[in-house]
Amino acid sequence: MASTLTVGLILAACSASDGAVGVVESELVLGSTTTTTTTTTTTSAATTIPPTSVVETTVPTETVPGETVGDEARSEPSVGVGDELFPELGSLDVDVLSYDVALTVMDGVDDGTIQATVGIEATVDPSVSVLALDAVDLDIAAVTIDGVEADFTTADNELLVDLPVARDLTVSASIDYRFTPQNRRSDVGLPVGWLPSDGRSYVLNEPDGGRTWLPSNDHPSDKASWTFQLTVPDDRIAAANGELVQEGGAGEAWIWRQDEPMSTYLVQVIVGDYDIIESEPVVGAAGTPIPITNVVPAGRGDDFADAIATIEEQILFFEERFGPYPLDRYGLAFVDDLSGLAMETQGRSMLGADDFEDRRLGYFQQLLLAHELAHQWFGNAVSPDVWSDLWLNESFASYAQWLWLDSIDLQPLDSYSQQMLLQRQRSADATGDPGLTNLFGFERYDGGAVVVHALRLTMGDDAFFEMLSTWVADNDGTARGTDDFIALAEEAHGSDLTEFFDDWLYAEGLPDAYPT
Ligand code: TRP
Ligand code: ZN
Repeated sequence: MASTLTVGLILAACSASDGAVGVVESELVLGSTTTTTTTTTTTSAATTIPPTSVVETTVPTETVPGETVGDEARSEPSVGVGDELFPELGSLDVDVLSYDVALTVMDGVDDGTIQATVGIEATVDPSVSVLALDAVDLDIAAVTIDGVEADFTTADNELLVDLPVARDLTVSASIDYRFTPQNRRSDVGLPVGWLPSDGRSYVLNEPDGGRTWLPSNDHPSDKASWTFQLTVPDDRIAAANGELVQEGGAGEAWIWRQDEPMSTYLVQVIVGDYDIIESEPVVGAAGTPIPITNVVPAGRGDDFADAIATIEEQILFFEERFGPYPLDRYGLAFVDDLSGLAMETQGRSMLGADDFEDRRLGYFQQLLLAHELAHQWFGNAVSPDVWSDLWLNESFASYAQWLWLDSIDLQPLDSYSQQMLLQRQRSADATGDPGLTNLFGFERYDGGAVVVHALRLTMGDDAFFEMLSTWVADNDGTARGTDDFIALAEEAHGSDLTEFFDDWLYAEGLPDAYPT
């Protein structure tokens, strides 16, 4: 599968008119690093999962927090939130408030087994007697609910924990488990899970890799706050999303805290021989300095200084178009063995150190930096409600990248948007209706940016950019779907856009020309 994967970022670089630097290299690397193994244990849902109609019968009822439950009739827990592409993921009964992830990564930096405890605070629908979490190939040792040992079973990529008959709406689960890192690949064709190599490791969770190392409500629609306590060998560091609350070492854990709501797919955990570098905070539109925390291969800070220096200019550029930077911090993590790929892990994007070697800052590097930063507005502050809404992430991050590359004279918007329209006309796959294997394909990336550009031309610049800022400001911290976006666009445009979205977002073939 590796060789046929066409991640849009890579594709964008390939089709650049000026012969992008490092593209061929990236593609080669894409097909040969962590992606070479054949292990694919993420099983497909089709045979084991109840139909989603079952799910719809267990809509959470309103209950006052702190209220005791237990009198109502007990029903089966919902497995899956009804996500068409990933029927297994998440549970409608569960709303996680916080994760406290404690990992001991000693031998496991290479290929040993990693010991873990996760504390989960969640509201669980009063009508169910079982807490259903996503868990794939985890070796669960013990579970407690509100401090009391609980019975549990694992089956079909779920961990099912018995809840006491009388309980509060909010339960506090603690799960002791172990897992063995493996090079996995999601059904979408991308590497996922806990990926170890050569004394280092990191996680890639999008779209469904979280559950292969963390029992969780592994769906983007459930955001929570996070604490990470990472115990690693003394000669390594551990980084995760958010603020560094305690530096590790001598058996002490590295503690990172992410208070802003975050979906599981945006989790960052990096272990290895890296330096953590605070760079100059950026004073953005909101006035409060945004702390910038970076992770770079040990002793090689200089190699990445130019890339880190782009952050300020890019934040200010996007703020003018999409509104204030929506999160409380940012930074860049340059990790080994991620060449040709990048991930918008919340509050600190992850990039491949090799792609930025020798202080390189050409077309492909600018593309990656702009794309991942833009995701902090589109995808991270506002996350997709279901995975079919992925264009709300990728098409907008791709469009933001077009705007940036145009502004630094590396890719003229006019000619590039025409070129992508032509390419998009040749593909017979609607941007707004992805399948599983092409989820991260061209139609969500540059092909979807074509839709965004057409919408801009339809609405006019003022209404369009105003609408984008409103989208982020009003929905920050939540997950939203395509219908929510369409409703806002129509409101901003002042008239119905059904025809526009039918022609551009949901059509397989696109119109011949952009709206005028
Ligand atoms: N969201 C990433 C981007 O476009 C792409 C991506 C999805 C990814 N899943 C991944 C990259 C897994 C690496 C590994 O920026
Ligand atoms: Zn992206």
